[in-house]
Amino acid sequence: MPPRGLGRPRRAKIARGRFFCRAPMTPQVESDACGSAAGFGGLSVVAFESRMAAETAAMIRRHGGVATVAPSMREVALEDHHAAFDFARRLLAGQFDAVVFLTGVGTRELFRIIATRHPRADLLEALGRAVTLARGPKAVKALRDLGFEPAIAIAEPNTWREVLAGLAPPLTLAGKRVAVQEYGVSNRELIAGLQARGAEVVSVPVYRWALPADRGPLRAAIGQIAARSADVVLFTSSSQVVNVMQTAEADGLGGELRRGLAAAAVCSIGPVCSAALRAHGVAVDLEPSHPRLGHLVREAAAGAAALLARKRAGAPRGAGDAARVEAALPHPGAVAGAGALRDHPMMLACRREPTPYTPIWLMRQAGRYMPEYRRVREQHGFLEMCRRPEIAAEVTVTAAERLGVDAAIIFADILLPLIPMEVGLRYDQGAGPTIERPVRSASDLERIGPLDAAGALSFVGDAIRMARRALAGRIPLIGFAGAPFTLASYLIEGGGSRQYQATKTMMYTEPETWHRLMETLARATADYLNMQIAAGADLVQLFDSWVGSLGPDDYRRFVLPHTAAVISALNRTVPVIHFGTVTGSLLELMREAGGDVIGLDWRVDLAQAWARLGYGVGVQGNLDPIALFAGLPEIRRRARAILDQAAGRPGHIFNLGHGILPETPVDHVRALVDAVHEMSRR
Ligand code: CP3
Repeated sequence: MPPRGLGRPRRAKIARGRFFCRAPMTPQVESDACGSAAGFGGLSVVAFESRMAAETAAMIRRHGGVATVAPSMREVALEDHHAAFDFARRLLAGQFDAVVFLTGVGTRELFRIIATRHPRADLLEALGRAVTLARGPKAVKALRDLGFEPAIAIAEPNTWREVLAGLAPPLTLAGKRVAVQEYGVSNRELIAGLQARGAEVVSVPVYRWALPADRGPLRAAIGQIAARSADVVLFTSSSQVVNVMQTAEADGLGGELRRGLAAAAVCSIGPVCSAALRAHGVAVDLEPSHPRLGHLVREAAAGAAALLARKRAGAPRGAGDAARVEAALPHPGAVAGAGALRDHPMMLACRREPTPYTPIWLMRQAGRYMPEYRRVREQHGFLEMCRRPEIAAEVTVTAAERLGVDAAIIFADILLPLIPMEVGLRYDQGAGPTIERPVRSASDLERIGPLDAAGALSFVGDAIRMARRALAGRIPLIGFAGAPFTLASYLIEGGGSRQYQATKTMMYTEPETWHRLMETLARATADYLNMQIAAGADLVQLFDSWVGSLGPDDYRRFVLPHTAAVISALNRTVPVIHFGTVTGSLLELMREAGGDVIGLDWRVDLAQAWARLGYGVGVQGNLDPIALFAGLPEIRRRARAILDQAAGRPGHIFNLGHGILPETPVDHVRALVDAVHEMSRR
């Protein structure tokens, strides 16, 4: 029987736990393939694990390391158990529609406390009337040991995002009461995410982490790292990162610790822990294939020697560079954690909040101008690259790392939603895309019928999950889709076009067919983008690349309602960038259609365009892609002119006015990224 209140529960999709080797363009390696018999080979290994300190030290030694395990946290039972008893009372009264269990230890402790006042059978029976969600195998096991099977089990990497996704539609949360068993620090992002979906959230803190009573060993371990006598450092939770950094800062050793970590192999248990490290200016060298202690130690042992050799030979330039990440810190010393990405300059700019520098990414940053892309492309067809998540993820991450940009964009194409329409979409090397059987009439439209783009393109969701894992919280990942007009133009013309003659002819002579086609595309696009958001896209961009071929009246009548339908149907936990070219006469209407940020091309003056749009919306752009063919002084001059037009106003994302062209020199692209970072630093 479906649990009351929230609609049909659903088992959360399991995010794949894999190790994505971070070296540029190296193939993805399954965990066991990373194994090696040599182990740590006498390297000194520091870990901060507390509860499992002895086991961790033994494991490190078993793998040939010299272990220093310095507990960094102390579990403190709350003095009074108000929250726990209050939870029990309300649960028994049927006041919770859903209960989220975040940790195994916390779940056990919660029931140990409340079972002192209420019969366990009553508690479990009451629990059975709510939707129950357990985050990760330990929480599931704790509940099973109590004789209870949770309705939803969240698998790895089981961060707050997966928890939120586990409660995704068709479950509805609006007006529902959700209890969240908390561990250590309160999980603000999860609570905010639930509240954003309309839930009333009740936190049930069961225990908290404090610094250890005796901080001697912790200080000694920090000193060891600062003195460069630690080769490998293992972090097994994000709270550890906070405590270690706080202790070092309090002792005036923050900078030394960071430099020591930069010289060591830094290994992190999972994405949230890595995000915390990066937010503190520490680059992460290795994340295991599964977020477990055993995997971490084993895979660190297998990879440490090679990692250190590479690192000590001169760390490669990239977005993970410690100084860069440190510079990206919005509030130096801010307590980091899962929220690190939320406070990334790119995300701040989408919300029009101040940033330490102007974030930049580039449309078509993963493309033929880049030798790494061409090498992969020589081996695979373009559609094959899109369909194979491991290739798409690799291309996505490599481009972003190579350029040092502030966002990655998932490797895909706006025309992929045409695949399930079976119109004969082809990409021939060197030529633009073609559609063998264009849609030009009402009967053609019958042929394509209703679309399940989200289902047919689940490989894009897989690529997003993999890319996000590989990016490990360092920079946000952009999902995208074509807007209905631009998609329709390809579908009707059968490919790219100059005049959009067939497209406009349908619009003007068969408006009913036009609107039906646009409705079909709008629905498919919204589903497709929501699927990408559910898979972990941190923001999305809607490309209406060719809409500038229309005048304002036609835009309002034939396009605006459909684009607005897409944007208003999106899961608004993520920002939306709405982009078009040659849109000088359409900007106000595009804003009306929606989006948090409006993408501009180079044909408009950014300052004037923003003034017209109003400062209640962000802007993205708008360097002419051909400027990248000029010399570096000219590139800098033009970039500075754009920054001057934006005048440091919060809400500007630097980009080109359209995609990078295939012949563009890669060095010029990198120089642009560096110049924008440097010239905009505030
Ligand atoms: O920005 C990125 O790095 C992510 C990937 C991306 C691609 N296409 C990859 C791609 C994105 C965001 C797109 C969007 C896209 N695709 C748009 C909107 C943006 C724009 O340029 O206006 C449009 C109109 C398309 C349709 C499309 N796909 C065209 C016109 C072409 C051929 C022209 C070209 O630049 O190659 C494609 C093919 C395509 N999409 C390639 C890539 C890397 C080249 C394929 C190849 O290697 O042969």
